[in-house]
Amino acid sequence: MSATLHDLAWMQAAENEHQATLYAKRDIALVRGEGAYLFDSDGKRYLDAMSNYGVASLGHADPGFAAALTNQLGLLTTCHQSFYNDARAEFLDAIIGIAPAGITRAFLSNSGAEAIEAAIKFAIATTGRRKFVALKRAYHGRTLGALAVTHDPKYRGPFEPLFPEVTHIGANDLDALDAAIGDDTTAVILEPIQGEAGIFPLQDDFLQAVRRLTTERGAIFIADEIQSAFRTGAPWAISHAGVSPDIIVTAKAVANGFPIGVTLSTEAIGAGLPGGAHGSTFGGNPLACAAGTYTLKALDSRYASNAELGAEIVERILALNSPKIRAVRGRGLMMGVELKERVTPTLRALQDRGILVLPAGALVFRLLPPLIWEREQADELIDGLAAVLA
Ligand SMILES: Cc1ncc(COP(=O)(O)O)c(C=O)c1O
Repeated sequence: MSATLHDLAWMQAAENEHQATLYAKRDIALVRGEGAYLFDSDGKRYLDAMSNYGVASLGHADPGFAAALTNQLGLLTTCHQSFYNDARAEFLDAIIGIAPAGITRAFLSNSGAEAIEAAIKFAIATTGRRKFVALKRAYHGRTLGALAVTHDPKYRGPFEPLFPEVTHIGANDLDALDAAIGDDTTAVILEPIQGEAGIFPLQDDFLQAVRRLTTERGAIFIADEIQSAFRTGAPWAISHAGVSPDIIVTAKAVANGFPIGVTLSTEAIGAGLPGGAHGSTFGGNPLACAAGTYTLKALDSRYASNAELGAEIVERILALNSPKIRAVRGRGLMMGVELKERVTPTLRALQDRGILVLPAGALVFRLLPPLIWEREQADELIDGLAAVLA
């Protein structure tokens, strides 16, 4: 078939005919990006308020990022973790340097779900126990272990029974938490801000209780920060509660779109794993590590301004006084707007106006912008929302 790169009909035919039928498609093709903006195959410009599901933390086509990757491509692309490597050593220094107190080890993989699988295995290997506690509305990924701790029956149903055994309790339910953690509990796993569910931040007292009860009862505390890390005005959303978990899992924003998964852990966990119990051929490859180091260094100066900008955006959305809005939630540049009606027409109307946001469930749209947004982008967003939600 002959086709130009920007022929939408050709791209639609190829993807619709050849891709496994798993994704509900939006009807545009994104072919280029520049900073906080994306461009479709007709050259139409969109404000990026989704960063490809929270991934493009530095926006698009960042020249320094391209240079860092190009430089690494000219040196070494792949290097198994049984050898030492400079790009990997630099990344490990950078990520452990911003980890909460007590987190000293990292296992490197290639995606969020893969990093969750490692966390589940590490918790089992460390405790010798096989029962997990997770939260209702939780989303931890779709590989089999990650699916077991995920809550939504829509994802789990066709694949049950799943391993490990999991009790799902209500978010912020202190009594249920106390009742669920026993002497045979491996770990409690949670997202400090539940993302896919519709941006529900957990309460500080609940996170503090998880820390206290897991410590008392010999269980491990796993924080899934695959979506929330780097977004909330600090590297880790859980730090706002003054809590340090035993394992933190992250991915998405760490390397600005280069696939990576990171399972961070305490010395007690990460230094006690039996050799060969887990591993990854691509994990910790020098390209991903160079991407990660560049990204973390660039994000370092953004946390305070992201926190302020996010708070301002939430206030300005509330000030719209839209009859369609039920609630606005979030922290920093991780925000959700819950509507009183289904969200699809709003997503469509925003897209038509040149603004891309994400759904989170039937009623919520999510704002996960690149972490380089300035007031100018916030103004554009608010103008668009004012028009669409009037
Ligand atoms: C909190 C959370 N955990 C796990 C995952 C799974 O990550 P991945 O899609 O990279 O496997 C996601 C992805 O959306 C997520 O938001």
